[in-house]
Amino acid sequence: MEPLWKGRMSGQVEEVLLNLGESIHLDIFLYKEDLKGSLEHARMLTKIGILTKEEFDKIFYGLKTIQKEIEQNRFPLKKELEDIHTHIENRLKEIVGDVAGKLHTARSRNDQIALDTHLFIKGNSYQIIIKIFEICKTILVRAEENLDIIFPSYTHLQIAQPIRFSHYLLSYFWMLIRDIERFLFTIKEADRLPLGCGAVAGVNYLNDREYLKENLQFKELYENSIDAISSRDHILNYLYSISVLMIHLSRLCEDFIIYSTVEFGFIELPDALTTGSSLMPQKKNPDILELIRGKTARYISNLNSVMILLKGLPLSYNRDLQEDRKPMIESLELYTILDGIHLVLSSFKIHQNNIEEFLKKGFTTATDLADSLVKEKNIPFRVAHHIVGELIQYCVKNQMNLFTIPKEKRKEIHPLLEEDEFYLNSISIQNSTEKKISRGGTSKKRVMEQIIYARQTLENIFKNLPEKINLDLE
Ligand code: ARG
Repeated sequence: MEPLWKGRMSGQVEEVLLNLGESIHLDIFLYKEDLKGSLEHARMLTKIGILTKEEFDKIFYGLKTIQKEIEQNRFPLKKELEDIHTHIENRLKEIVGDVAGKLHTARSRNDQIALDTHLFIKGNSYQIIIKIFEICKTILVRAEENLDIIFPSYTHLQIAQPIRFSHYLLSYFWMLIRDIERFLFTIKEADRLPLGCGAVAGVNYLNDREYLKENLQFKELYENSIDAISSRDHILNYLYSISVLMIHLSRLCEDFIIYSTVEFGFIELPDALTTGSSLMPQKKNPDILELIRGKTARYISNLNSVMILLKGLPLSYNRDLQEDRKPMIESLELYTILDGIHLVLSSFKIHQNNIEEFLKKGFTTATDLADSLVKEKNIPFRVAHHIVGELIQYCVKNQMNLFTIPKEKRKEIHPLLEEDEFYLNSISIQNSTEKKISRGGTSKKRVMEQIIYARQTLENIFKNLPEKINLDLE
């Protein structure tokens, strides 16, 4: 079979070039975008008088037939046909005859692939936003459910201060909200139509790009044909948004991996989300979390690889650009990843007993005791810090904690520590969270306020979602 680009070349193409040059195994994931682009291009050619109404109808029928063939797995992929554009054009010719040859008037594969990737990124960013949105809703449900569970916070992975478990969960809510915002930005930036710019310089026809823009649901046009076919900014934005999202998910996975160890024992995943070991019968491994953490590496490197691809690439189109495809198509796995995270978040259990023990063992209210000395006993903070430091030193040496150290010992360290009411109220874990009254803090009132604000934020995002793109051939 002769390549469509044969032009001035004669003779056979080397097998090695076909092997290196084919992208159809990835491009096939763009078939809807490509078909839609072709249909609207044909409609525009009809409007400007290049195709007759009958010719348009034939092409329309051909494109619809191809869509059916692809969806019913009756569309063979051939490496000699390189990419999705030539596959479709070739098949169209088989179905509708020579009129297929007119479809490529005033169009190049360069503006065609640019269009396909813009549509792909707009559509998938939208779907990803919807999935993140669902996860956010689940986080809110679990945050409300577990409002009264007190949990340790960590800095340096050393136990720090008591927090509400909801407060911890909600920190991921806000990360995910920013992820949604990044995908919204990605959509906005990809909302520029590159089609109608030809190979690089524009085309020798007075095409109607405004008409294309309306029909393909774009907000703006690329104003410069060179920029239109060579920019891959939209892909960078998309891969960046994915990388940050994955970094967030990976941190959540890491937390949950740690919290579900025997050593911590704070949370537990349902059996159906874990695996055993072929050797050690006691194992319950959190593979789902490890896999998502592991896959994050690839998503970050996908962003890197496209940045490196672009750096130093002379304008305008170079075949190197085809290498943007794999990173972009790999993003489709995100749906499974997001489903996995959703399942984890909706099904994990919390083991409160273990948590309480660690909160006490970890001296998590030491700072509160120092603060009480300052507030109620008028001791300068540096001195208070020192007194509590000594108390802890004694506890550590004698395997005690703030709750088990005898009263006489407290008194010995400092007379102000003797009085039970003052001392016990100061080290109370429950009281500790309630003292965190600053905005964004972990007291019940503040967390409840946060949940209300979180819900409003979600509602606002939902109300202002951009229009969903429609790739149906109609
Ligand atoms: N398969 C090509 C790509 O994905 C389409 C554009 C081909 N353009 C060209 N001048 N060879 O980038």
